[in-house]
Amino acid sequence: MIPRSKIDEIIGAASIEDVVGEYVSLKKRGANLQGLCPFHNEKTPSFNVSPAKGIYKCFGCGKAGNVVNFVMEHEHLEYIPALKFLAEKYRIDWPEQQLTDEQLAAEKQRSSERESLQIINNFAETYFANTLQHDEEGQTIGLSYFEERGFRPETIEKFKLGYSKDSWDHFTQTAISQGFNSELLKKSGLVKESEQGKLYDAYRGRVMFTIHNLSGKPIAFAGRFLKKDPKSPKYVNSPETVLYHKSNELYGMYYARNAISKLGYVYLVEGYTDVISLHQAGVENVVASSGTSLTENQIKLIKRFTENVVVLYDGDAAGIKASLRGIDMLLEGGLNVKTVQFPEGEDPDSYCQKLGPEAFATYLDEHKKDFMLFKTNLLLEDAGNDPIKRAQLVREIVESISKIPDAFKRMSFIRETSKLLAVDEQLLVTESNRLVRTKLSGEAKTSIPPIESSLPTYQQELRELVDVQHHDAQEKDLIRVLLWYGNQPVEGFHHVAHYILHHLAAEEIALEHPIALAIIEELNEQLSKEAEFNSNYLIHHSNPEISKFAADILAQPLEISPNWERLYDIIIDPPGSNYLQDANAALAALQLKNIDKMIRHNQDSFNSAETDEEIENLQRTHIHLKELQANLTHKWGTVIVK
Ligand code: GTP
Ligand code: MN
Repeated sequence: MIPRSKIDEIIGAASIEDVVGEYVSLKKRGANLQGLCPFHNEKTPSFNVSPAKGIYKCFGCGKAGNVVNFVMEHEHLEYIPALKFLAEKYRIDWPEQQLTDEQLAAEKQRSSERESLQIINNFAETYFANTLQHDEEGQTIGLSYFEERGFRPETIEKFKLGYSKDSWDHFTQTAISQGFNSELLKKSGLVKESEQGKLYDAYRGRVMFTIHNLSGKPIAFAGRFLKKDPKSPKYVNSPETVLYHKSNELYGMYYARNAISKLGYVYLVEGYTDVISLHQAGVENVVASSGTSLTENQIKLIKRFTENVVVLYDGDAAGIKASLRGIDMLLEGGLNVKTVQFPEGEDPDSYCQKLGPEAFATYLDEHKKDFMLFKTNLLLEDAGNDPIKRAQLVREIVESISKIPDAFKRMSFIRETSKLLAVDEQLLVTESNRLVRTKLSGEAKTSIPPIESSLPTYQQELRELVDVQHHDAQEKDLIRVLLWYGNQPVEGFHHVAHYILHHLAAEEIALEHPIALAIIEELNEQLSKEAEFNSNYLIHHSNPEISKFAADILAQPLEISPNWERLYDIIIDPPGSNYLQDANAALAALQLKNIDKMIRHNQDSFNSAETDEEIENLQRTHIHLKELQANLTHKWGTVIVK
C-alpha cells in the first residue's frame, strides 16, 4: 500500500506538460497545449493538454486522463508501477515495504547482482558485436554468414548481432582482464568452469543474438552453431538468471513495442531470424516465441500491448498441427487470433527474403485468416468423409470455442463454424455451454458466462447496451456539472455538489453507470466528513477508472441543451451561463430518463399480458407514469425557464 500522502506528493510534483512533452511535441494554443496524439495515427493535432486542470484529452481517439493515466497508457504500466515511474523521474523517495534486516540484505544482494550482471551483459554485447565487425575470424565466418542470409549492415547493427570466436577462453580472458568477477561471469552463463577448475567460454564459434528486455537492455544471449552437426543443438541460450526468465520474454519486444501500439496488432513468429528479416522488410510489429510453446506470462506480455495477434508459423503441415495447442492458449487468454499460412517448406524469414518487402507485405494482408476458421478447415481436410473423424473434429472445435472467455465472440464463432461443419448451430451452442459449465464448476474462479440461447438474447443484449449508452449522456452531464461547478455557492446548501447529492437522495434518482455511481457514493462519504468540495480529488483519484472518467468529462463541454429542448420543449440558457440551471437540468434529465425507461418497460409487458386484469393494471401504471412525467417537466421547467 502506498500512502495517499505519497501519491499526492508524486502527483503534485509531476507536471502533465513535462511528462507528455517527453513523448509528444506540444504547441501552445490559448491556455492549452496541442500536439499529435501518441495513441493513434494522425496528421493534424487533436491531442490536447490542459496544464491548469492537469489532464489530457484526444478528440480523435477519445483517450483522456491525468498524468498517471498517461504514463499507464503510454508505458503500458499498472497504476502503482506508473506512480513509481513518476517518482523516479522526479526523484521522490519510493516507500519500500518494511523489510527485516535479513530480507533487506537479501534484497540488496539481489539488486547488486542484477546490476553487476547487467554490466557484464552490456560488456558482452559490445564484445560480440566488435568481434563480428573487426576481428578477422568474426568477419570471415560470422559477418559473411549474416550477409549470406541477406541481413544488411544497418540491420546487423540495430539488432546488435555478434560473433564469439572459436577459442577456448578469449572472451573469458578479456572479461577478467577488464576486472570482472569470475563468480559473476559464471552466473551470467557466458563463462563455464571445467572439472579441472579452469574457466572457458560458453559460446565458441557461434553467431550471437542478443535478447533485450523491454527497455532495450541486453539480458541474455543465444548463439547459433554454424556447422551442420546433428549431435550438437543449433542454438545455445543463456541460463535463467536474476535478469532473465525465459518464460517471461518474447524476442524482439523492445524493437516492436511502439509499432504494436500504433498498428494495434502483433505478428508472432517462431525464430530470431524471422523477427530480423521482417524488420528489414519494414514489418516492425513482430516478436518471436523462440521455438518453445507459449507461456502464460508471454501471453500477458502481449496483452499489455494489444489484444490482436497474427500467428506466422512455418509452412509445413506437421509444424502447424504441433502449434495448434499453443494458439488455443492465445484464445483462452482472450486474444483475437489470426494466422497466415506459408507455402510448404517456407518460414516467414525465407519467404520474406524470397518475395521482397512489398510483395511480402501484400501476401500477409491477403492471406490473413481467422484462426478458428483456419483450424476448422484444416481439420476438415484431414477428416475427409470419415464420419468418426468428423464427429471428433466437431468436438475438438467446440472445445476450442468454449475456452474463449467472451460470450459474444463464442457466439459468433459458433455461427460461422456451424456453417463450415454443416452442423446445427443450436447443437454447438448446447455442447459449448455444457463445456463452459463443466469448466465453471471445476474451477469456480474463472468468469466465463455461458451463452443463454441463440439469436434473440443477442439482440436483446445489444438493445440493452444501446439503452445503457444512451443513459450515459445524462449521467455524464451530471458528473460534469459536479466537476465544473461543484464548489459554487447555492442558497440553503454548502455548494452545488451538496445540492446535487441532496436531490439525488431525496428524489431517489437512480444512477446506472458504474463509475458515475462510484463517484457519487464516494462523494457522499467524503462530504459527510468535510464540507469542502474539490474536483482535484476526482481527477487524481487512485482508481484509474475514476480519474480517466473525470478527466474525459472535464475536457468536454456540457451537452444538455439540444436533447433537452427536443425532448421536452423547454428552453434553457446555453450551458455554463447558469450553473444552478445546469445542475437542475442534469438532475431532471436523469429523473425523466428513469421514467421514460419505466414507461417503455411497461409497454413491453403489454405484449405478454394475458388477462383483462393484467392489461388494466398496466394501463393504470402507464397513465400514472405519464402524469409523473408531465409533473416533473412542469416542476423543473418552472425552475429552469426564467
Ligand atoms: P535459422 O535456422 O538460422 O533460420 O534460425 P531460426 O531462428 O529460424 O531457427 P528455427 O526456425 O530452426 O527455430 C526457431 C526458434 O527455435 C529459434 O529461433 C530458436 O529460438 C529455437 N531453437 C531452434 N533450435 C534450437 C536449439 O537447438 N536449442 C534451443 N535452445 N533453441 C532452439
Ligand atoms: Mn529459419
